[in-house]
Amino acid sequence: MQPLKSSISNPFRGKIRVPGDKSMSHRALLIGALAVGETVIEGLLEGEDVLRTAAALRALGADVERGEDDVWRVQGVGIGGLREPSGVLDMGNSGTAARLLMGVLASHPLTAFLTGDESLCRRPMERVQVPLEQFGARIVAREGGRMPLAITGAGDPMPVAYRLPVASAQVKSAVLLAGLNTPGKTTAIEAQPTRDHTERMLRHFGAEVETVEEAGGELAVSVAGQPELTGRHVQVPADISSAAFPMVAALIVPGSGITLTDVGMNPRRAGLVDTLIEMGADINFHNEREIAGEPVADLHVRAGGLTGVEVPASRAPSMIDEYPILAVAASVACGTTVMHGLAELRVKESDRLAAMARGLSACGVQVEEGKDSLVVHGCGGPAPGGGSIETDLDHRIAMAFLVLGMASEKPVTIDDAEPIETSFPGFVELMNGLGAVIGPSGAAA
Ligand code: S3P
Repeated sequence: MQPLKSSISNPFRGKIRVPGDKSMSHRALLIGALAVGETVIEGLLEGEDVLRTAAALRALGADVERGEDDVWRVQGVGIGGLREPSGVLDMGNSGTAARLLMGVLASHPLTAFLTGDESLCRRPMERVQVPLEQFGARIVAREGGRMPLAITGAGDPMPVAYRLPVASAQVKSAVLLAGLNTPGKTTAIEAQPTRDHTERMLRHFGAEVETVEEAGGELAVSVAGQPELTGRHVQVPADISSAAFPMVAALIVPGSGITLTDVGMNPRRAGLVDTLIEMGADINFHNEREIAGEPVADLHVRAGGLTGVEVPASRAPSMIDEYPILAVAASVACGTTVMHGLAELRVKESDRLAAMARGLSACGVQVEEGKDSLVVHGCGGPAPGGGSIETDLDHRIAMAFLVLGMASEKPVTIDDAEPIETSFPGFVELMNGLGAVIGPSGAAA
């Protein structure tokens, strides 16, 4: 446990690049391992979650190495070429690592045992178990499909057309990845568009992926099975979900002005930026371009008053990881912010809806927690602060409350900063370099 305290910040100043995109990093490794030849990855996120994917792929027979030049190289085994691991695959805290890997394994004729930390072992895996069993995989798990679990992939997989019961890019991706070693066409049908990094990355490696809008607005995403994937060069943009923390800090700490470079601006990920702009945020885009098939921009962010807004449920998939930090922005805004469609927050690394409601109340912010909604009554300036927050193995809860402390009258403490390593290594040093005052919780403010 590493307790930390965040106190009223100096104005944020500077130009930074936050670490690489987590979603893209997992996918570059996984798809690189299934390609033929060498994949070279620049800007890979070296957070614990992604390192778990790398370790699992090594255990499955792929050669995954970090060079002294910080560039990662993967020697792929080709589709269907993974071998049975001798030990248990520990996916740590990462739902993405676990669910995407299960998709890959579902069409490999081998048996693998998967486990994770306490947080991952309480998360629902049934959502991938159900479609993967349709390919012919066998999965033995604890109640609700919970980990630890064993998966025996199908020797003779059958293509599947699966309608997603929840808006989840992880489930969509598990289905598409299982479809890679399956003859014929595999389709995932989604009612709400979720992040499409798997589709973009598969295309980048040479797979045929098609997205068709059906009557009623559903999206049918199909992959043609057994494609020739060839090793590629991948540049990973900065993670918008990590950029969100310095972005909101710079908006709520008076006098701030920062630049965030190379931020991935995939429209299916950028819902937070749209929402902040609706709240009156001063965010400007520069140097807009494409990297590895993904839109990227530099963002100039300046502090200024924010006003509460209503965030529709339809926007949830495009900012699903950003509600904790949006709730922090809403806490110092003028007026009320209402967020709808948050049921999925209850099954993230922690129950984030409950964690935000509890933590904000402890910091003197008035909130109302609904079954799948959150109402935050903004303080119209610094929040009272002073709360002690249990992070419950959740990196984003840890970072969100450290940001709240930067714009609160009294410091905010978190009981454990260690989970931050899963997605944002170097967070505290980077934030302190910009103006934050984060230190050990025993130290004076
Ligand atoms: C992710 C998808 C999201 C997100 C997670 C990463 C991905 O989960 O919360 O942090 O990389 O596909 P769901 O798709 O299950 O909502």
